[in-house]
Amino acid sequence: GEVEAKLYEPMRRHSTMLVGGPAQFWLEPHTFDAFASVVNYCRERGMAIRVVGRGSNLLVRDGGIRGAVIHPKGGQFDECYVNESGQIVAGAGVRLKKLAGVARSAGIGGFEWMEGIPGNVGGALRMNAGAMGVETFQQVVRMTSLDEDGEIRTRERGEIEVHYRNVPELRRNFALQAVFAGVPDSADQIDERWEASRLKRRSSQPLAASAGCIFKNPSEIPAGMLVDQLGFKGRGEGKAEVSLEHGNFIVNRGGATAAEVLAVIENIRREAREKRGIELETEVKV
Ligand code: EPU
Repeated sequence: GEVEAKLYEPMRRHSTMLVGGPAQFWLEPHTFDAFASVVNYCRERGMAIRVVGRGSNLLVRDGGIRGAVIHPKGGQFDECYVNESGQIVAGAGVRLKKLAGVARSAGIGGFEWMEGIPGNVGGALRMNAGAMGVETFQQVVRMTSLDEDGEIRTRERGEIEVHYRNVPELRRNFALQAVFAGVPDSADQIDERWEASRLKRRSSQPLAASAGCIFKNPSEIPAGMLVDQLGFKGRGEGKAEVSLEHGNFIVNRGGATAAEVLAVIENIRREAREKRGIELETEVKV
């Protein structure tokens, strides 16, 4: 009852881009202990392990994923509440949208930038997701993870190395839960920032299926501006197309394949390198 399992689960069902072949073993543990058991079981058998949350920053190839894909969901993973210190405790399976809503209802400010982020807490921690000039780890107080050695540990923010869209320890450890802090604020102030975030997003980002920003912003220029200047907007490969709204989004016009998306990514990277001498790195997990 603590783990649900499926064979050959189509990953397009678990990616906001709506692409990707089947996961050989799809496993949904509902508790931290069940998650640890699943990971240990797979490791002992030498199976490859991937953890996938909402799949909002993910590009799975058409051939799918061999081995285990673990999807933390339900039970402890979906818990989101304000603790006795006025901080927000959220499991890896909680959507950032939900976290932002819990903060808003409790009169805790600082989470408004999460209002439009489709991803889950686990994924946001893994990549230190951000928007509106704020990053996930600016609000993390402590994080609980299943470590490489099979132990579940909690670390304070100061013990965790964090970079732009990169948290090195989460390449080895799996985030299970985090405690977040904001600042007490009035409903009006929170609503104002919430609305500003929503307006900025709605005016500059596409609504069509996508994986959010494809590339990390290089130091030279925002990736979206670069792709725009290179003339890629509206161009693509099959059903995968660079968004007309924002150059750093590739949208699925319906039935796109991962191969098409990857071809668009490679075309952009080549031109950025050849014409501008800029090496673009993907932000989405390929
Ligand atoms: N721009 C263009 N053309 C475009 C897109 C953007 O000229 O097609 C220009 C904008 O006018 C602006 C600059 O590029 O001057 C930066 O654009 P924007 O303000 O949209 O921010 P961004 O750096 O492209 C970042 C995050 C987004 C986040 C937004 C909003 C990265 C890679 N992206 O985008 O995050 O939503 O800020 O706060 O850091 C994501 O992580 O998936 C994501 C979408």
